[in-house]
Parts: sequence; structure tokens; C-alpha cells
Amino acid sequence: MQTFYIKTFGCQMNVYDGQRIESMLRGRGMLQTEDVAAADIIILNTCAVREKASNKVFSELGRIRDRKKPDALFGIIGCVAREEGANSFRRIPELNFVLGPQSYHKLPEILDNPDARLLNIDLSGLEKFDALPPATESPAVAYIPIQEGCNHCCTYCIVPYTRGRELSRPFDDVMRDVHAAADNGAVEICFLGQNVNGYKNSLANLIKETAKIESIKRIRFTSSYPTEMSDDLIALFGTEPKLLPFLNMPIQSGSSDVLTRMNRPYSLDLYIDIVNKLRAVQPDIQISSDFIVGFPGETDADFEMTCDIARQIGYINSYSFKYSPRPHTAAALMKDQIPENVKKQRLKILDDILTENNRRFNESCVGQTMECLIEGPDKTGKHLLARTPYMQQCIIDVGANENSPNNAHENRANAHPTKSPISSGPGFHSPLQSVKITSANKCSLRGEIVKTES
Ligand code: 5AD
Ligand code: SF4
Repeated sequence: MQTFYIKTFGCQMNVYDGQRIESMLRGRGMLQTEDVAAADIIILNTCAVREKASNKVFSELGRIRDRKKPDALFGIIGCVAREEGANSFRRIPELNFVLGPQSYHKLPEILDNPDARLLNIDLSGLEKFDALPPATESPAVAYIPIQEGCNHCCTYCIVPYTRGRELSRPFDDVMRDVHAAADNGAVEICFLGQNVNGYKNSLANLIKETAKIESIKRIRFTSSYPTEMSDDLIALFGTEPKLLPFLNMPIQSGSSDVLTRMNRPYSLDLYIDIVNKLRAVQPDIQISSDFIVGFPGETDADFEMTCDIARQIGYINSYSFKYSPRPHTAAALMKDQIPENVKKQRLKILDDILTENNRRFNESCVGQTMECLIEGPDKTGKHLLARTPYMQQCIIDVGANENSPNNAHENRANAHPTKSPISSGPGFHSPLQSVKITSANKCSLRGEIVKTES
């Protein structure tokens, strides 16, 4: 039997793309392997958002080419494939295929004709969603893309180039995927898009429709663009109990000047106003953000404003990145690029603030009981890992409660989100459990299961 190896880098969108490919290859009778040296097909599913991520792909390709079977089919898909195009074959002549994030559904062409070379980095729009066979299994958390691409054209971002202009999937197509995921065992739906709240066919309606499905217990979406946070969507945080009280809404910078140069034309007042409206309808809501430090021309005073807003909003679970000049972007050509050592210092200062926010919020959770999604055992098998409604990680001591399983590994199949359907064997009947938070630090929570859901 033929085997395939796939490694995914980058965002949830890529994780989804990877899952679709896995499902297609399994449908052709292939088995997945973790052993690259034994694989008949090797795929790197790549991310181009920062230079480091992009370079990592080519060093990995170099390592793989020395280990792989001589006749293994070997290729890259995703954003680096689109960024590098035919140049990928020059850099790694052993590559058999290079397929962009909107053309990986062409993979069967090379499987059927392995002696050819395949390059396709077209922006084929939504074609890939229908071209691949529907997924036949779902993890407990199903990530469902509702859009491709992005129309915002932030001056630092390569995504409009790699994934093209923004396209919204038809409402009924998305709901068909939601129902399929629910039928296959999903309990949480996460709607995905580069600009998910800009979904043209109403994200609020998608959430309402999804909430009607009995077996779906948690709904969330990522990532949101501030100016597209409509009032009906904000209101849902107060009225729809299945919508988790957690929102990723990247601000990127706290300086209006920097935001203007980033081509993110919203004022801080508008952003704060949205946060206030969200907190008015759902006082428990927590917000996360992405930040870029060291954008061209960022002064100490600009950076100070970013630190101020990070403290003021009290973001949790946020990401901060050093600005990385990318091809095909306007900011790469801007004057006043910031030296690497300054970027590094600023990143450390901001990371300390974000960590302190996390620690404070995590500690405030101690003593509370929260419904958490069990993701599976940790590496030691002595604990279960779970996600709170705010996406914090919670470590659960197994055996701490009579309802919890004796051995975390025994429950792998019904607790791990990559395994489905959720079995109803001994131990857990549902991956959702009420967990009492017993302690916390800056990274995670610890807790114990207080009651098993039926
Ligand atoms: N440099 C650094 N970070 C970037 N991001 C996007 N482009 C760049 C870049 N050129 C970050 C943004 C975005 C996240 C997915 O990646 O913060 O929200
Ligand atoms: Fe995802 Fe952006 Fe990376 Fe492409 S460049 S894989 S869209 S994070």
C-alpha cells in the first residue's frame, strides 16, 4: 500500500487545506506515515507570511531530499509555492510538484502522471472547495473556511498576493460543510477567513444557523478585521450562548501613524469603541490580537502607544511578530526600515506585557468552573490537555476525579480532536467537560473534571 507524508506550517487555513489533502489521499487508498524516508508521496504545506517561515521550508526540503526514497513524489503546496513559483524547481530540482493555495486540488494530476512535473499557482478562486471529495471524518473542532483571500491590502502582507482577492463561499455550501462536520463528530465549529467578519453572506446568520444544530456546542471565528465588526455580530455575543466569549481582532499597532502606513485606516477610538460595545453585551468577553513591531518608520513613541493599548485592552492569547519585509508588498520598499536589534528589543518588551496580561487573566480564573474541550493526553500520558472557552490551555490531572479516566492514553480516541467519531466507550462520553480551575501561571491553567457531560 502506498504511503504519504505531509507537514503543515502556518495558519489554520493551511491546517484545513492539509486536512482536505489527507482526506483525498486516504480516499485513494493511501496510508499516512510520519516516516519521510518511507513515504511514496511527500508534501510540505507551506506558509509565506514571514521570511523566516519561508526559509524554513527550503531548509526542510533540502533535508528531505537527502532522506527520501529516490522515486518518491516530492512537492510543496501553499503560500511559499505561490510565492516562489517555478523558482522552487531551480532551488530544489528534485521537486515534482509546486501547487499554490488555490490549486492544490490539482494534485491528482501528478499522482496519475508521476513522470511529469506539475506547476500550478493559479488563483482559481473557490474551485478547490468543490473539486476535492468531501471530508469523511471530522475532528472535535472543525475548522471551516468561509472565505479565501483578502481585499484589505495591508502594506506588510503577502496574503493578497499568495491567496488572492477576497471571495466569500456561498452560504449553503458552508452550511453543508457544517452539517457534515457535525454528522462526523465535531462539537466545535471555527469559521475561518483572513477577514472572516467581512464574509459577504452574513457571518451572524451562519452562526445562528449553526447554533441550531444540537450536537454543536461551541462556535467561534477567526480572524476579524476591526472595521467589519458589524452591530449584529457584536450583539450575538450577548444572545447566542454557543458563541464563545473570545474574539481575535488584530490591532497590529497602537499608533495611528503606523496604522496609516500599514494601510489599516481605523482610529484607535473606533477600535476601543468596538471593544466597549462587545464588553457591554458580553462582560466576560476576552480579546486577542496580533501585533507587528518594528514596522518601517516606527518610532519609540509609536511603539510606546502599542504597549499602552496592549495594557489598556488587556489582551490575552495574543501574538507579536517582528516586522518581516516580504516580496510583492509595499512596506518592503518603504524607507526607514528598523534595525533588527531594535525590533528584537521591542518584541521582548511587548511580549513581557502580553505575558503579564495572560498571567493576570489566568490567575483570575482560579476557583471557577468552566466547560472545556478535551484535546487529548499530553506527551507523558499523565494529563489531559483541554481548551477553555477563552482558548487558554488547561492541564488536567487524570485520576483527580472519579469521572475522569484511569489512563489518559486509553481515552485518546474519544478525547483527541484529530480522532473521530467521539466514541462512547468507558471514560468520557463527550469531549466537553466541566473543569474546576485549581491553579494558574502565565502559560496555562490546571484543573480537575467535576462532572461528566451526558
Ligand atoms: N511581518 C511580520 N508579521 C506579519 N504578519 C503578516 N505579515 C507580516 C509581516 N510581513 C502577521 C500579522 C498577521 C499575522 C497572521 O501575521 O500580525 O495578523
Ligand atoms: Fe496562512 Fe498567511 Fe501563511 Fe498563507 S501566508 S499560510 S495565508 S498565514
